Amino acid sequence: MSELLRVENLHVSVGEKELLHGINLTVHKGEVHVIMGVNGAGKSTLLHAIMGNPTYEVTEGKIYFEGEDISELSVDKRAKLGMFLSFQNPISVAGITMENFIRTAKTTITGKQQRLFPFKRLLKSRLEDLVMDPSYSERYLNHGFSGGERKKSEILQMRILEPKLAMLDETDSGLDVDAVRVVSKNISDFHNENNSILLITHLNQILKFIKPEFVHVLIDGYIVKEGGPELVDEIETNGFDAYRKEV
Ligand SMILES: Nc1ncnc2c1ncn2[C@@H]1O[C@H](COP(=O)(O)OP(=O)(O)OP(=O)(O)O)[C@@H](O)[C@H]1O
Ligand SMILES: [Mg+2]
Repeated sequence: MSELLRVENLHVSVGEKELLHGINLTVHKGEVHVIMGVNGAGKSTLLHAIMGNPTYEVTEGKIYFEGEDISELSVDKRAKLGMFLSFQNPISVAGITMENFIRTAKTTITGKQQRLFPFKRLLKSRLEDLVMDPSYSERYLNHGFSGGERKKSEILQMRILEPKLAMLDETDSGLDVDAVRVVSKNISDFHNENNSILLITHLNQILKFIKPEFVHVLIDGYIVKEGGPELVDEIETNGFDAYRKEV
C-alpha cells in the first residue's frame, strides 16, 4: 500500500511550551488509525499541527503527504491536497449557510465550480444519510446547533469534500447511541482503499463500527505505545497508568 501521511520527529510548541516531543507516524492509503490517550496529552495538538494550524508551531521535524514535504504549506493548500480536520469543538459561523459554506469549500478545494442544483441534491442526500432534516442546509454553519448536530455537520463536510485523509477529533463524543451508529456508518461508507482515517477517541463504542488497524497511545506529548486493535481492549481494562510509567 502506498504511503499517504508521514510525520517525522515532530516537535510542536505553543508559545514557549513544547507540547509534542518527537512524534513519528505513518499512515498508508486505506488504513484506519486511532489515537488514544489521557486528556491534555497532545492528541488534538497533533492533528492541528498536521493540518497546519499556525497556532501550533512546528519547531523540528517534517510532515509528508503523498511523499511531498508539506511542512511549510498553509492550511488551505493542505486542504487542497486532500487533508481534512474535523474539530473537537466545531466553531459556528453566523451569516454563512451550511450550503454556501460547503459548496464554496468544495469549489475551492476541487477548483471546479459546483453547479447549484446537482450540489443541492448531493447535500440533501448526504443530510439524509446523517438523519438530519434538509432544512439544516439553510441554517448558518453550526449556529445554534446542538453538540451532536455540530459533530454530524463536520461529518457532512467530510462526506462532501471527500478528502484523502480524514482526521476526526473525538467525532463521537457527545453523540447519543443512535447518533454514534449513524456517524459510524457515514464514516464507514466514506472509507475506501484510497483514503485513510486518523481518529481520536476516548470511547470504544465507535470502534465497534470502525475497526482500526493501528492504535497509537499518546501521553505527555510522546507516543508511548503502538499496536493493533487489541490495544483498545487493553486500555479499556487497565487504563493508561501502565503506559504513563514508560514516559
Ligand atoms: N492554543 C493553546 N494555548 C495554550 N496551551 C494549549 C493550546 N492548545 C493546547 N494547549 C495545551 O496543550 C496540551 C495538550 O492539549 P490537546 O488539546 O492537544 O490535548 P488532548 O490530548 O487533545 O486532550 P483531550 O483528550 O482533553 O482533548 C494541554 O495541556 C493544553 O492545555
Ligand atoms: Mg483533544
